[in-house]
Amino acid sequence: MAMQRVGVVGAGTMGNGIAHVFARSGFSVVLCDVEQRFLDRGLDTIAKNLDREVAKNKITVGDKVSTLARITAVLDRAKLADCDLVIEAATEKFEIKAEIFRELDRIMKPKPEVILASNTSSISITKIGALTGRADRVIGMHFFNPVPVMKLVEVIRGLATSQATFETVRELALKLEKTPVEVNDAPGFVSNRVLMPLLNEAMYAVMEGVATAEAVDEVFKLGMAHPMGPLTLADFIGLDVCLDIMRGHHAGAAGWAGRSEIPALSAPHQDGGCGLAGTQEWARLLHLLVG
Ligand SMILES: NC(=O)c1ccc[n+]([C@@H]2O[C@H](COP(=O)([O-])OP(=O)(O)OC[C@H]3O[C@@H](n4cnc5c(N)ncnc54)[C@H](O)[C@@H]3O)[C@@H](O)[C@H]2O)c1
Repeated sequence: MAMQRVGVVGAGTMGNGIAHVFARSGFSVVLCDVEQRFLDRGLDTIAKNLDREVAKNKITVGDKVSTLARITAVLDRAKLADCDLVIEAATEKFEIKAEIFRELDRIMKPKPEVILASNTSSISITKIGALTGRADRVIGMHFFNPVPVMKLVEVIRGLATSQATFETVRELALKLEKTPVEVNDAPGFVSNRVLMPLLNEAMYAVMEGVATAEAVDEVFKLGMAHPMGPLTLADFIGLDVCLDIMRGHHAGAAGWAGRSEIPALSAPHQDGGCGLAGTQEWARLLHLLVG
């Protein structure tokens, strides 16, 4: 089946990046979220990121205009019905994704060939697929942040995912000029199975007074040639997202060799989330905790 029209559910950090790369590669995109302000923010981010690509001579002003013209923002999920594939990139909570997948499966009932993909970082693709009547056409398409820049897509097979679905999504990733890597369904897949224990342990190192947040980051930048330290990376991913992923690991249990998240990560904050930003914030928070 020739893919032409792609739905993206969730216009946040990842959803707007996924819409960006599909539209830039010539696909029509239907971008869906629960409130107009989230759609507006997503479209605004896409426009700014395209401006950045124009400034770097990666695309022309004309490419920017045509890319934006290929994206339709909608609140009504029923408008995804004419898509050939839908990628879910909503908040990392199982109950949210479960509701979305049941509804997408219902909307797509007249089109059994449509593939439903999830950008989840930690939730079982097998479990998501089982909520639908098309488990063989449910797959993980795990992009990395920032999506327009990062080359990797982990393509995750659920237990029931068919070879045809896998091949279609792998080819799709190549059309986006990404590098697909095949991964089986296990807690955290490969990326977060290995990364989250590292980030959590870096937080423990600061909490237990082994080194300052800046020093921990320096060790990884200079000693391991990481482009940014683990604490900066945790901020970049979003501490609330990290917490959800770590809890997803615990729910998945097998294969997670880490310890529980540091207390500060799950402590309530005034803004309702973890919401910390920058290693200065880490240092301040952990100083308060450990004195
Ligand atoms: N942030 C990262 O670095 C990163 C990297 C890879 C994968 N992911 C995964 O991508 C997904 C999205 O993460 P994010 O960082 O973009 O989160 P985000 O909080 O930036 O965006 C989530 C968006 O989903 C929307 N949403 C919530 N419920 C919805 C619903 N029922 N229908 C439609 N939209 C809904 C929210 O309004 C929000 O705009 C998660 O599964 C996350 O684990 C995140």
